[in-house]
Amino acid sequence: MPITPVGKVWMDGDLVDWGDAKVHVLSHAMHYGSGVFEGIRCYETARGSAVWHLDEHIRRLFRSAKLYHLDIPFSAEALSEAVKETIRANELSACYIRPLVFRGYGEMGVNPLSAPVNVVIAVWPWGAYLGEQALEQGVRVKISSWRRNDQNALPAAAKATGQYINGVLAKIEAIKAGYDEAIMLNQMGFITDGTGENVFVVRQGVLLTPPTQSGCLDGITRATIMSIARDLGYEVREENLVRTDLYNADEAFFTGTAAEVTPVREVDDRVVGEGTRGPVTKEIQGTFFAATKGEIEQYASWLAPVQ
Ligand SMILES: Cc1ncc(COP(=O)(O)O)c(C=O)c1O
Repeated sequence: MPITPVGKVWMDGDLVDWGDAKVHVLSHAMHYGSGVFEGIRCYETARGSAVWHLDEHIRRLFRSAKLYHLDIPFSAEALSEAVKETIRANELSACYIRPLVFRGYGEMGVNPLSAPVNVVIAVWPWGAYLGEQALEQGVRVKISSWRRNDQNALPAAAKATGQYINGVLAKIEAIKAGYDEAIMLNQMGFITDGTGENVFVVRQGVLLTPPTQSGCLDGITRATIMSIARDLGYEVREENLVRTDLYNADEAFFTGTAAEVTPVREVDDRVVGEGTRGPVTKEIQGTFFAATKGEIEQYASWLAPVQ
């Protein structure tokens, strides 16, 4: 998806012009994928712009950094404030937010420990990740022939830049075969997640999603949807799933900051349920979008006002 340039990028404490937000080609992260990042959204609400689950995202950024012994030279509070400052500086009412912490320029070789740590926050307007139409009609998915990174090779608990080359392989395979997205299995053959989304299945009114032990990302939207679904009276279970659970589901959908709640209408050329957004998906998606707009008082604390 193309990036829409805006005015300023936050770099190591300063707001710099979009065109000046550059790094050296010999930066450590360019060669070894030694960075950690987040994807966050800011939504427009009746009370002004607000960042969705800001604290959770910043906490996950710090957990990812800890795993790689990356010492972030800012506090969580300072980074949360910097996110809001960057949105204000760009005068955006709704946007995608990309904080990135990476090993910078100065050291070469795999040992990253002496390389400097840089922090950037970029924001830009970003629509529906899998397309506007997909939110209603759903996407076509392929179970990838590429397995998800094993937990003891590259830990799913970290949202690290280098780890995404695994998803890149799966995404390319799916796109070249004419699908919209890929879902990866773990080494045991259980479902993990999409290349940028968690997966839910609806079977006889019960919601099922793989446990984080499967190797999926501990998605913040996944947790949000589990809360919303339980509040709506649905039973939600974290269970290992195999590919046929997707083929035979009544409904299936993706969750993610970028993808929000996107129905899955087909998996490996098998139509899922009625082949369109099912009634449970529709109810949950509707509640999710209403919550992001600040329309549900019960979920107001999930929104951090930008002003
Ligand atoms: C591999 C993967 N799975 C799941 C997700 C969904 O996570 P979240 O809801 O926190 O955005 C993402 C996106 O961050 C992801 O990259």
